[in-house]
Amino acid sequence: MTSVWEQLEKQVPTWLEESRKQACSGNVAAYIPELANAPREALGFTIFDNTTRIITAGDYDMRFTLQSISKVFTLLLALMDQGEAGVFSKVGMEPTGDNFNSMLKLELVDPGIPFNPLINAGAITVSSLIAGATPAEKTNRILSFFHELTGDPTLTFNDAVYRSETNTAHRNRSLAYFLKANRVLGDEVDVEEVLEVYFKHCSIEVTCSHLARMALVLAFDGTDPMTGRKLVPRRYVQIAKTFMLTCGMYNESGAFAIRSGLPAKSGVSGGILALVPGHYGIGVVGPALNTKGNSTAGVHLLETLSTAFDWSIF
Ligand code: DON
Repeated sequence: MTSVWEQLEKQVPTWLEESRKQACSGNVAAYIPELANAPREALGFTIFDNTTRIITAGDYDMRFTLQSISKVFTLLLALMDQGEAGVFSKVGMEPTGDNFNSMLKLELVDPGIPFNPLINAGAITVSSLIAGATPAEKTNRILSFFHELTGDPTLTFNDAVYRSETNTAHRNRSLAYFLKANRVLGDEVDVEEVLEVYFKHCSIEVTCSHLARMALVLAFDGTDPMTGRKLVPRRYVQIAKTFMLTCGMYNESGAFAIRSGLPAKSGVSGGILALVPGHYGIGVVGPALNTKGNSTAGVHLLETLSTAFDWSIF
């Protein structure tokens, strides 16, 4: 009988080409002008298991920026810096059902804290909780954390994407100033400095093999199976994975959870980081997005795989 791994090796290239067809129903993000240059038809895939076996397919070596995928890891860093009480005095634990950059609910609740750390308002708040005296110190700590998670010390920021976002981020600026007015960002917090940290971590450049490697650390409760190093306490990984399941795919999180049953986090550059707890770390990239901001082809490929191999955690 062939093993799951052998079946994956055999099937993934065919399924990837099947899923690639979904790209035509999506559009590349253009509200950050630099992202509009991404190849619409690209689709890449990497999966790691805990014995360092790897399967890659399609455009797996294409480089793209983390965007919202970084929010899972800044949350982990903030939890390690401030503890649960510190973080959850500033951000909530509930899905919104709204777009990722929505302001709506900030006015509907008292004291106006963001509903969760994976929407933009929540992630901007989390950026303010990262320890460090200056924005440079904070962003360097974030980058070092990604170096540890991926085992790749060459990872760095894509300066063109960073500048493109910082020059056009009127909505994120409004969100951040609103948070300041609500005192979620306190007196000691400089709004422009927090935004600098936020845009910088969104602009870290990776391939889907980096995503798979980072996902593997989450799949093994914070320990990197490749080095045996404990990088994150299990409790914080548990929190992050729960947010991924309930909020990781924005206002499509419910449908994705029903169809795939996997914790995952998407970004507007088309990346999706997903994991099968105790088994696999997965990275996908497909720049054409659906109306919710998730990769059309990437979502299709993950749902195909999860259904075929019965990966749902439920
Ligand atoms: O703040 C933004 O709009 C981007 N830097 C990140 C948004 C994002 O990736 C949402 N994803 N689906």
